[in-house]
Amino acid sequence: MSGEVQHGFKRGSRELGCHTANLPDDELEPMTSTVKTGIYYGYAQVHPECPNGCASDLPNEDLRVWPMVMSIGWNPYYKNEKLTAEVHIIHQFKEDFYGHVMTVLVLGYIRPELDYTSKDALIEDIQTDIKVALRSLERPDYQSYRQDPSFRL
Ligand SMILES: Cc1cc2nc3c(=O)[nH]c(=O)nc-3n(C[C@H](O)[C@H](O)[C@H](O)COP(=O)(O)O)c2cc1C
Repeated sequence: MSGEVQHGFKRGSRELGCHTANLPDDELEPMTSTVKTGIYYGYAQVHPECPNGCASDLPNEDLRVWPMVMSIGWNPYYKNEKLTAEVHIIHQFKEDFYGHVMTVLVLGYIRPELDYTSKDALIEDIQTDIKVALRSLERPDYQSYRQDPSFRL
């Protein structure tokens, strides 16, 4: 999946301590028409260019291929009425990168989207998702996808 990073509802960083980059709606269809909604993991790369103008220039470090976790679905906890794909890149970025083109390579499924009785329970599960993703991507066959032709090396 690839597209310009969109603004979400901005709860990700404010309430959950977890920044997320949303993909454009038209990028969701190929994936949601073939697989179920839920939490996935893989790799992502942010590119330097912004088709509609960049608010920030990113350092080279931020333009590398990083592990990611992605929630694709309806965010039952927040009762969203719109399907979204929200990517959390497991890397500390220096700046926000709204408007930059981002490429996401989805490699595996972690779990379905769940509703929660508390925000803390959602935060805890996201931290578990991050651990699951990092452990899975340690396997040599997954490592090789960092060099996938979808990315610029
Ligand atoms: C790894 C990951 C797992 C998530 N799991 C769930 C979930 O199980 N249920 C849910 O309602 N939302 C889930 N979310 C979505 C968050 O609720 C969402 O990212 C948050 O509302 C921020 O969205 P916003 O930036 O558009 O405000 C998950 C997000 C991530 C990154």
